[in-house]
Amino acid sequence: MKSIFPDNFLWGASSSAFQIEGAYNEDGKGLSVADFNSFKKSHIQADTRIAADFYHNFDEDINLMKELGMKTYRFSIAWTRIIPDGDGEINQKGIDFYNKVINKLIENNIEPFVTLYHFDLPFALVKKYNGWESRETVFAFERYAKICFKEFGDRVKLWQPHNEQNLIVRVEERINIYEEKDQLKIDKMRAQMDYNMCLAHALAVNACHEMVENGKIGPAVSSSVTYPLTSKPEDVYAARMNDNFKVYYMLDMHHYGEYPGYYMKYLNERGIMPYMEESDKTILKSAKMDFIAVNYYRTNCAEALESDDEHPFGSREGTVDFSMYGLFKMSMNPNLKASEYGASIDPSGLRVALNEYYQRYHLPLIITENGLGAHDTLENGRVHDDYRIDYLKSHINACALAIEDGVEMMGYCPWSFMDLLSSAQGFRKRYGLIYTNRTDDDILDLKRIKKDSFYWYKKVIDSNGALLDDK
Ligand code: BG6
Repeated sequence: MKSIFPDNFLWGASSSAFQIEGAYNEDGKGLSVADFNSFKKSHIQADTRIAADFYHNFDEDINLMKELGMKTYRFSIAWTRIIPDGDGEINQKGIDFYNKVINKLIENNIEPFVTLYHFDLPFALVKKYNGWESRETVFAFERYAKICFKEFGDRVKLWQPHNEQNLIVRVEERINIYEEKDQLKIDKMRAQMDYNMCLAHALAVNACHEMVENGKIGPAVSSSVTYPLTSKPEDVYAARMNDNFKVYYMLDMHHYGEYPGYYMKYLNERGIMPYMEESDKTILKSAKMDFIAVNYYRTNCAEALESDDEHPFGSREGTVDFSMYGLFKMSMNPNLKASEYGASIDPSGLRVALNEYYQRYHLPLIITENGLGAHDTLENGRVHDDYRIDYLKSHINACALAIEDGVEMMGYCPWSFMDLLSSAQGFRKRYGLIYTNRTDDDILDLKRIKKDSFYWYKKVIDSNGALLDDK
């Protein structure tokens, strides 16, 4: 059977530092916001202290990547290993660790694909500057990015500045807004942090282009495809605005160097316009992303939502799937089945997302996250995760259809390479192709056990996507 996927298609898998590495304070690593948040839940679930212990097992884990046939591995560098306090001394042991990982990947013909910041801002920057609210953090990030480009850029050619900026700004805990209760103040802080992250993104894009020969860099977007709950025109508009406020305001800023009109109107009317310097414009407009990485899990519905005296225009309710008064109210799609953790399963939404992003920006796309979180069961040394195979198969098929539609795709990396620390459910919710033998309260032997999805995905890679049905 002939494959629709290009010959150099990057079949891979993904992870992130705080979710997989463990060794949270070893070899000089500093504390991150992700560590801090995870320790608050240590009494109910696994935390970042050990996670999947990739730090001590990377050799064996990369051998498994090789066995799987991976062409790329998308992972993140922990800023706090490279610069423990965010903007001070460089920690050589952190650089040594990632050199070992990168070299081992390259020896095995696996292209390293690095995210610089995946939810794990150095906690010291929170204490010093309230994190992303300050421009000091922007320049600290630029310095950190430049250190990584200098140290690893001879071998790492694919980069992402931030993972899902458009999602973390919705979740107060992830952007270290802990005490504040006043919604308007929270929104103001959020808008400033979001803008500062855009500026940091642009500085990293420009530095990558200057410092990394043949380097390519682009954002990882938490994708959103929103269906109108009814065919009423106001609900259709609500669905469009939900995608605008969840995704396009940010991608437009990365692409055009300025926020779109509807977003400026929101910032103005809500009275939360961030501080911007005139000279930022040149930086923002000059930074051209090379690709867009798409993280895709699910879709939602929206309907119109009126504002009133108690809920002024632009005020929100909810976090990741927030509703916004005056624009949209979110809900689940009654026509779709959901995972056991409540995420709608919608492969055709992926085809829509890929077409939309490609048509808007005409940049190559790569999936850097897509997967099914489930409560896997280990039975006689095997994990029969047919449900995951079905999920991945239907989504890879959606990529094939998008390619037929004319979308340029560079690769596909499911989330996740192995079971790792899921943000809200620890090790109860698993995404991996490989089972990590530990539970939330017992680290057991941390043995790596290949799931049925591992063997299936190996055949997919070997056949360049032609053998999707071969279990
Ligand atoms: C993505 C994140 O948004 O979703 C990952 O980039 C995360 O870090 C993944 O693990 C799945 O979400 P969760 O909450 O199930 O871990």
